[in-house]
Amino acid sequence: MERILIVDDAELNRELLCDILKDDYSIETAGDGNEALDKLYEHYSNISALLLDLRMPKTDGFAVIKEMKRHAWLQRIPVLVISSENTVEIETQCLELGVSDFIHKPFESSIVKHRVKNAIELFTCKNQLEQTVEKQAKTLEQQYQIIQMQAKKLKEAKPFNKLMMEFHSAIAEVETKLKVLNEEFSQEYHRNPFESIKSRLKSPQSIFEKLERKGFPVTVDSIRENLADVAGVRVICSFPDDIYRLAELFCQQDDIVLLRKKDYIKNPKSNGYRSLHLILNVPVFLSTGKKYMKVEVQFRTIAMDFWASLEHKLKYKRDVKDTDEIVRQLKSCADSIEQLDYQMQEIRDKIYHPSE
Ligand code: GTP
Ligand code: MG
Repeated sequence: MERILIVDDAELNRELLCDILKDDYSIETAGDGNEALDKLYEHYSNISALLLDLRMPKTDGFAVIKEMKRHAWLQRIPVLVISSENTVEIETQCLELGVSDFIHKPFESSIVKHRVKNAIELFTCKNQLEQTVEKQAKTLEQQYQIIQMQAKKLKEAKPFNKLMMEFHSAIAEVETKLKVLNEEFSQEYHRNPFESIKSRLKSPQSIFEKLERKGFPVTVDSIRENLADVAGVRVICSFPDDIYRLAELFCQQDDIVLLRKKDYIKNPKSNGYRSLHLILNVPVFLSTGKKYMKVEVQFRTIAMDFWASLEHKLKYKRDVKDTDEIVRQLKSCADSIEQLDYQMQEIRDKIYHPSE
């Protein structure tokens, strides 16, 4: 049986409420605020609801509520204020302090029973939910700690560091090749085929998470074999045709091996994502000889990059409201960006080749 505490200085009120509720609850009573607080200190975790009179000598109901608030007990125990002639101001003040409901005098048996039952049920649900969320947050935190620890171990291992150095060198090779092409273009044709390059090495934590997620062993050999995006280079071009020209010139170089190509410009993803992805084998020349390393190169226009960075944020922000609407808006922006990219290209052609 759930235990409730009835606090009222009028004995008659305590008796009336006891009569109404005694079949459903185990009942404690208190004749003033001090007594109520003493009982709360003693039985706090076993009390499921408090029925509280406001006007009492010495320590009144407000003082009890404030003390309960100070201990954060109001989050766990519903307080129902017993009132006879409460004004709107008083009720508002009570609600602002965190009171759950009111029981008006004269007491109507069925209403009292329902109000108490509803308040207890609501708080039980709320408390259970909070406990579940707390438990899940703890589990997540533990998993995160484990991942971080394992990622740290991975990072400290010498073969892992060597592998990262090799990937880093492969990125440098790709960047150099791209820069050479850019310089040549700017001398020959007075324009640059790309605006900027962004490179990144996947973090040990992401590497670990991806291997785990895909069910691959967490070893240095497995990283080399199974992950194609440890070394990533993003090439941001002004116009779509620069992307294809640059990608072709790049792949034609005789030491580059094209392993895989995903053309999300010709075949955009359903969310609107557009970019050209190449997975390349790039040679790195080490003291021990030549080693081929996988590098993921993504080519996009400035506008596609602008879109992708905003869309990427949506994936990582958990508290976003109206996700469906945002997804729809992003898709619509992607369509506009596609049109814009080709319109800009047309304008460029009119400027550079006015006769065609
Ligand atoms: P991953 O396991 O994420 O590497 O996917 P995948 O192996 O199927 O390759 P895919 O070519 O689809 O994606 C590779 C990378 O492209 C991702 O890691 C992102 O950087 C980028 N990418 C792919 N799809 C999207 C997308 O819908 N939105 C954004 N913002 N980026 C994307
Ligand atoms: Mg990836």
